[in-house]
Amino acid sequence: MAGRLMNSLDPGYSALVIGASGGIGQAISMCLAADLNCSKVTQLSRRADGLDITDEESVHRAADRFQSTRFDLIVCATGALTIDGIGPEKSIRQISQKAMMKQFALNAVGPALIVKNFAPLLAWKKRVIFAVLSARVGSIGDNQLGGWISYRSSKAALNQIVHTAAIEVSRANPASVVVAMHPGSVATSLSDPFSSGHERSKPDDAARSILQALDALQPANTGGFFAYDGSSIVW
Ligand SMILES: NC(=O)c1ccc[n+]([C@@H]2O[C@H](COP(=O)([O-])OP(=O)(O)OC[C@H]3O[C@@H](n4cnc5c(N)ncnc54)[C@H](OP(=O)(O)O)[C@@H]3O)[C@@H](O)[C@H]2O)c1
Repeated sequence: MAGRLMNSLDPGYSALVIGASGGIGQAISMCLAADLNCSKVTQLSRRADGLDITDEESVHRAADRFQSTRFDLIVCATGALTIDGIGPEKSIRQISQKAMMKQFALNAVGPALIVKNFAPLLAWKKRVIFAVLSARVGSIGDNQLGGWISYRSSKAALNQIVHTAAIEVSRANPASVVVAMHPGSVATSLSDPFSSGHERSKPDDAARSILQALDALQPANTGGFFAYDGSSIVW
């Protein structure tokens, strides 16, 4: 449904969604495409463009295509909970060096490469937003249940990466908002195998909430860890 969504950005703003082939990335792209304030939504994904965020050269090549473009909003919606058929651990006995390294490569180092290569493509001297999808389970303070040690710790590392990058980006552009965003429990292929007994939102509803929460954040909030409802999450 067409309407105005990202009112805090300049009219005619330009957006980039990385991981636009995923359940949440696709829904965010569609919401932005329907936003009358948005002039253009660029989508990037592994499936459509061959962008592999675990390959530094691939990330560099993808960003290189946009050297003459400036974005007001960038959302990185990549990530995985199950990699090469290996899902999250139930116990520390299941820790595997190989599986844990893959979680870190995809959920922490990959987004760091995205920030390195795409933050310079943010517009200058005006409000811009760069959001990276994290997960509440990456919160150390909120962890009462244990389990999922590789995914949790890769997202905790991601949160530190986003926080650190935000400080540097705000020195160049004090109006920037760079945050880690928990999308909620959303019905996508990532969460399907773990959904029994859990309530999940539809990707469209999650996307709208995420974008509304981002729209309401201020430069003073940069570097923070937030949920789709705008609430802040303990580290
Ligand atoms: N769904 C939830 O309940 C939930 C909850 C908390 C946090 N999250 C977080 O939200 C984000 C999006 O999750 P989702 O539910 O939308 O998952 P999804 O539907 O499985 O989408 C995952 C996305 O990540 C991309 N991707 C995976 N490996 C990649 C790689 N090596 N290089 C480039 N792209 C890669 C996929 O690209 P291709 O499909 O093109 O390969 C796809 O676009 C993730 O960071 C996830 O941790 C989700």
